[in-house]
Amino acid sequence: MLIDGYGRVVDYLRISVTQRCNFRCKYCMPKTPFSWVPHENLLSYEELFLFVKVAIDEGVKKIRITGGEPLVRKDIDKFIKMISDYAPDIDLALTTNGFFLKHYAKLLKEAGLKRINMSVDTLVPQKAAMLAQRSVLHEVLEGLEEALKAGLKVKINTVALKGINDDELVYLLEFAKERNCEIRYIEYMENTHANDELVGLRASEILDIISKKYTIKEVGKAPNSPSTSYEIDDGYKFGIIDPHKHDFCDSCNRIRLSAEGLLIPCLYFEEALSIKDAIKKGDIAAATEVLRKVLQNKPQKNKWEAAKENEVSNRAFYQTGG
Ligand code: 5AD
Ligand code: SF4
Repeated sequence: MLIDGYGRVVDYLRISVTQRCNFRCKYCMPKTPFSWVPHENLLSYEELFLFVKVAIDEGVKKIRITGGEPLVRKDIDKFIKMISDYAPDIDLALTTNGFFLKHYAKLLKEAGLKRINMSVDTLVPQKAAMLAQRSVLHEVLEGLEEALKAGLKVKINTVALKGINDDELVYLLEFAKERNCEIRYIEYMENTHANDELVGLRASEILDIISKKYTIKEVGKAPNSPSTSYEIDDGYKFGIIDPHKHDFCDSCNRIRLSAEGLLIPCLYFEEALSIKDAIKKGDIAAATEVLRKVLQNKPQKNKWEAAKENEVSNRAFYQTGG
């Protein structure tokens, strides 16, 4: 079992397989051009898998593949199959923008993937194009249907934004419900990479909008989940992630691995250590040692809290995978 310096059991590993993305979502990506980490700096799937085995052997029970957009990295289904073959019972999930799901859904399911989270912020093509800064909605919705057809469990993530999708929140809920998907509204997290014209809706505002049509009952939080669950009249459940009010740190069970081999214990990079040298040498004992050190250094609280003072943080979602 992996236990950090504050006694929290860590059993959830998020792996960002690339920081590249084919979208430029305004809440995530910088306005000005920036350069990607060159491909040769990335760990290969085989190298990442060496660490995954260590993590699973040490007690990780849940793995989420993220990006950037994970489906832009070639042969991602093969990496998923490596993990699934090694540990078929692991809770194996992926976060995607959905654009390439039409092609990948069946392959991913066959490779052993169990669940996906995908972003649907709007059902209006022009708004989706404005947010992602390219025309995307058609492919995203096709991808969603394909994922459901393939038998993947799907959660929909919606960042709630004033003047952009506040008029669609109920419609999005019904859209998700009809497809047997849970929808989770996410409060926009201000950060220096995002477009500064964006204004997020707070959880209370989201609830106000939905309660105009439905009676809402709070159900509470599942252990280790950042999402608070709510139920409407007919029993359908949706979630809200409200980082402005809750910091989730006390029950945090996760660590992150970046594509270049940085093991990140919290949302920011400062306390991260690299497993790259150990893995390149195939030195499992050294990789395990890095993992132990990172757990020991896992901060009690994230620095979003401090950054909240001026409402902006430096966090780059596309680098750590959210
Ligand atoms: N605030 C809130 N959520 C964000 N995401 C990306 N950037 C932000 C932000 N600034 C979410 C997207 C997606 C997931 C990968 O991260 O909604 O679902
Ligand atoms: Fe890409 Fe996801 Fe960031 Fe949008 S939120 S730009 S889809 S990484």
